[in-house]
Amino acid sequence: DLTLDLAKSALDDAAWAGLFGLARAAGLADFRTRLFAGAAVNATEGRAAMHMALRAPEGVDLHASLPGGIDDAAAMARAERARMRAFTQAVHAGALRGATGERFTSVLNIGIGGSDLGPRMVVRALTSTAGTTGGGRLAAHFLSNVDGHAFATLVRELDPARTLVLVASKTFTTAETMMNARAARAWLAAALGEASVGQHFAALSTNAKAVAEFGISPDRIFGFRDWVGGRYSLWSAIGLSIALAAGWEAFQALLDGAWAMDVHFRDAPLEQNLPVRLALAGIWHIDALACAAHCVLAYDERLGLLPAFLQQLEMESNGKSVMLDGSPVGHPTCPVVFGVPGTDAQHSFMQLVHQGTALIPVDFILAAEPDHGRADAHRALAANAFAQAEALLRGRSAAEAKSGMLKSGLPETEADRLAPHRAFSGERPSSTILFHRLDAFALGRLIALYEHKVAVQGCLWGINSFDQWGVELGKELAGALVPALTPGADPGPHDSSTLALIRAFRELRGES
Ligand code: F6P
Repeated sequence: DLTLDLAKSALDDAAWAGLFGLARAAGLADFRTRLFAGAAVNATEGRAAMHMALRAPEGVDLHASLPGGIDDAAAMARAERARMRAFTQAVHAGALRGATGERFTSVLNIGIGGSDLGPRMVVRALTSTAGTTGGGRLAAHFLSNVDGHAFATLVRELDPARTLVLVASKTFTTAETMMNARAARAWLAAALGEASVGQHFAALSTNAKAVAEFGISPDRIFGFRDWVGGRYSLWSAIGLSIALAAGWEAFQALLDGAWAMDVHFRDAPLEQNLPVRLALAGIWHIDALACAAHCVLAYDERLGLLPAFLQQLEMESNGKSVMLDGSPVGHPTCPVVFGVPGTDAQHSFMQLVHQGTALIPVDFILAAEPDHGRADAHRALAANAFAQAEALLRGRSAAEAKSGMLKSGLPETEADRLAPHRAFSGERPSSTILFHRLDAFALGRLIALYEHKVAVQGCLWGINSFDQWGVELGKELAGALVPALTPGADPGPHDSSTLALIRAFRELRGES
């Protein structure tokens, strides 16, 4: 029930043939085999990228290379999943409660980047229709930003006695998450007493030592391994908020959907392979047509956070300018990804996509069957999605625009003046992903489609899609700037602009 329509993507047979030639020259089939075999495809960190193991069903072995040897990654993932399931079901049944004996009604996931965006996006997608609440399921809240306003706003809505806090951090060292986790700890302790904290916290992390130091007991740690990249981690313990909010069955169906796409990606010939086709179309747009941006328009309000999730997935994975051997890549890689739900986009930035000077390919995403009863509304939504794609392709010449204006009675001089403004170039590429219904299975499959697309593009560009060194410098400098912003402290050596900003900040706060 999944259609990927690439017929509007500005590719003819010769271009497709060239792209498949490129894929063969880049050793894509071999890369795919190495990826599933748990090879250290993340060469700069010496790690496998085995998020597929998190969704592999019973009976499937997937091995991951670890510095210490080879593990059956799928078996390990299944064991941890059994613990997550037992925990989820105990919370839902009211067997696990808060310190005052009340049932948990809210879960607060504290994490950032991959420890936030995936669960946040999935929870919104799966819990915003009727019938997805109740049965002990919790209302999920997400805290990512270190901005104290975020915490202050959230806690106004939360009752500490009925809130379960998940500290979600692969490394358990991320500054924003640790600061927010400490704030949440203090908030709970102030309301319920220090002794109650343990009953309200769980940790989702690979760093058991740091979790223990924070004071969370080992039975409340849900773990995973370093072969799960942050932006690929919603399938791991990091997805616990999904299970708590949407139910265990939904979480399992999400994994099953992703696994269905894994099997397709692993086994289908390159020519019939959806992630490969999607990736190649993207490479055509970026490297042949010089498109520097890519727009994602889900005609589905429930997928409102998909563009934000894809921004990390695509831009953190493939926003690279050196190849695996460290040499300059020499051609454009990942575009800027952006989007909001259709039809809202049509009334804001789509003007530029239709008539601007930049060529911006669009992914339209639509479920044929809604989960509300208003068939008329859904037909209107679908009509808009298809019309946008059709308009981008077809365009309208100045002559057509003029004749339309003449027919509606405009004088010829006025029609001539307005025709260039009302003309559309057309030939603007788009892809459409159409499926039956947005359930957990379909969502898992959709996310995995994009995950594998990103890996294929990384392979063809010869870059490492699985590291993210580009986030490090800012983190280091922020660490050094905290003392510089302290009253009376020597700001230290900085460029003149930064020094002036430090002084202005302190002055505005009356702290100079
Ligand atoms: O700073 C980027 C990053 O490392 C992401 O790759 C990651 O998803 C995020 O921070 C959060 O990391 P952690 O889960 O270790 O807190």
